[in-house]
Amino acid sequence: MAKVTIDGQSIEVPDGTTILQAARMIGGDNVPPAMCYYSKLKTSGGYCRTCIVKVSKGSDKDPRPMPKLVPSCRTTVMDGMEVQNNTSPEVLEARRGVVEFLLINHPLDCPICDQAGECHLQDLGYENGAAKTRYDFPRRKFEMIDIGPYIKLHMTRCIMCFRCIKVADQITDNRSQGMLFRGDASEISTYIEKVIDNDFSGNVIDVCPVGALTDRMNRFKSRVWFTKPMDAHRDCKKCSGKVTLWEKGEEVLRVTSRKDKWGEAEEWICNECRFEKKHINDWVIEGPRQVDPHSVISLNHYQNVLKLKLESGKPQKQMLLGKK
Ligand code: SF4
Ligand code: FES
Repeated sequence: MAKVTIDGQSIEVPDGTTILQAARMIGGDNVPPAMCYYSKLKTSGGYCRTCIVKVSKGSDKDPRPMPKLVPSCRTTVMDGMEVQNNTSPEVLEARRGVVEFLLINHPLDCPICDQAGECHLQDLGYENGAAKTRYDFPRRKFEMIDIGPYIKLHMTRCIMCFRCIKVADQITDNRSQGMLFRGDASEISTYIEKVIDNDFSGNVIDVCPVGALTDRMNRFKSRVWFTKPMDAHRDCKKCSGKVTLWEKGEEVLRVTSRKDKWGEAEEWICNECRFEKKHINDWVIEGPRQVDPHSVISLNHYQNVLKLKLESGKPQKQMLLGKK
């Protein structure tokens, strides 16, 4: 076991735990953001540098600080290590720089992007970004690519986090995907189109932290904050069948995996559940999905309304108006 202290809060963790994992065990506001690390995907992390932290004390045996900021998703803790995240102005300044780089080529088309409202880059930019860019060169542009009938690749929004490549590599059968070129010419390209035959290819949509991979069947249908996430399940032979339905009225606009508090899929779901079961009668509804109260998705407060309705049996309109 190793004891690590992050922003003044200590925890004992098994050897081999990374700083990011230890911070998540502590929880709260001091957990570094992570755009490429995904706990369910092996070898993820180490690409985006949003999770950088300062190691102000290496360990009890060797208390020297680490000379540079380190990616917390790839740095394992040592016994006695002390780490600064939000308490270090140096980290906050460096993270602002990372966000500026991530946004250099991003189109900032949130008003028309289906991912708006549940986009990790949007949150990161809001919390750590600058209002203006200093970049004078034209942003790179790509044509949109249809990856089969269900998925749209919008490369202009991609931040090269490699998550979709890891999904295609680790969850689907064939290694027929990858990133082409290097540096500012890098792109997720035609390789990934070959994963469409696989039953689990739709999971690339869920792992994409931005709106680069979106569900074609849900494109421009609604804003996420106008939809109601409901947990539901069905008897599925390919996956657990446990999903979140995003409803608007009686219509199921899209089906996704259930996300944990870090925004990661709890379980991978198959394409049949995701794309072919769009009728409410296909599912056993469990109840409203618990959504982080800070999320824009929770703004409609329908959960409270539903709870009150179930408790009191009063018509919804009366409750909304506060009438007895
Ligand atoms: S398409 Fe999405 S998941 Fe794939 S590398 Fe780009 S940002 Fe990451
Ligand atoms: S989350 Fe650690 S480098 Fe991307």
